[in-house]
Amino acid sequence: MDLVKEIQRLKKEKNAIILAHYYQVGEIQDIADYVGDSLGLSQKAAETDADMIVFAGVHFMAETAKILSPDKTVVLPDLNAGCSLADSCPPEAFEKFTKAHPNHVVITYVNCSAEIKALSDIVCTSSNALKIVNSIPKETPIIFAPDKNLGQYIINETGRDMVLWDGSCIVHEAFSMEKLIQLHKKYPDYKIIAHPESETHILDTATYIGSTSGMINYVKKHQDQKFIVATEAGILHKMKQEMPNTELVPAPAKEDNTCACSECHFMKMNTLQKLYDCMLNESPQIEVDPEIIERALLPIERMLELSK
Ligand code: 13P
Ligand code: SF4
Repeated sequence: MDLVKEIQRLKKEKNAIILAHYYQVGEIQDIADYVGDSLGLSQKAAETDADMIVFAGVHFMAETAKILSPDKTVVLPDLNAGCSLADSCPPEAFEKFTKAHPNHVVITYVNCSAEIKALSDIVCTSSNALKIVNSIPKETPIIFAPDKNLGQYIINETGRDMVLWDGSCIVHEAFSMEKLIQLHKKYPDYKIIAHPESETHILDTATYIGSTSGMINYVKKHQDQKFIVATEAGILHKMKQEMPNTELVPAPAKEDNTCACSECHFMKMNTLQKLYDCMLNESPQIEVDPEIIERALLPIERMLELSK
């Protein structure tokens, strides 16, 4: 069976839209109607008139799409495609944490569950985090969760003293400083660009820090330069497609990591076969409690409003 043809057929038959993140395998990115970062994907999910959203990404992304479009069918190729960062912030413990810091505005990075979003005042992604934090009056204290690395980056950039939740992404914490230094010695004229989920010592080496789409746009603007790319390696697919003459090397991961570069095994759980199956069977579907949807929608809408 020609999976690509069959997926195209199902897309028409079911009036479906395929939204894919830059960390998906290349063949999924190539068949998607839209490939983007977390912000772009949620903007698409909010505006689409498709009946079915096929989310080629991880669970929190598909859940955000369901919150924004509760009447649509939202399917995820593999329900186990989670996120270590989202998992590092369980709702009960987080609710206690917010209660221990009364009068704080709660800003949460979109990489968290719907329950955490429902406990938030405003959501952000890596592409609008600085803008969202700067939109809060200076004298108002802030809780930032769940990513302590992104949080620390925002503190350094804005000078705001935020209370951070102690969460992180296993993929972005896997970069090895030692190996990065060795790689840079081998490629001294390569500039380092990094995602803000990386640790401070990695970010300190970077010429540019930004979201996945921010990194792609930066390379696009500087195609004559060469880059070491410190984020999940799936992003190289789009970069190589759009900038075929730009030299790119993925940042190296620590010895104990499963691959030489950094791959998110959650993102890589989705395959073309599972994508086809989920469209055909309209399963697995993302379901969110209506009461949670009601509470989680407002902080996401606030973010979308501020990101226009
Ligand atoms: P972006 O919003 O930058 O695409 O980040 C998503 C993500 O999961 C990074 O690990
Ligand atoms: Fe989560 Fe990290 Fe994977 Fe992004 S790369 S989905 S933050 S585990």
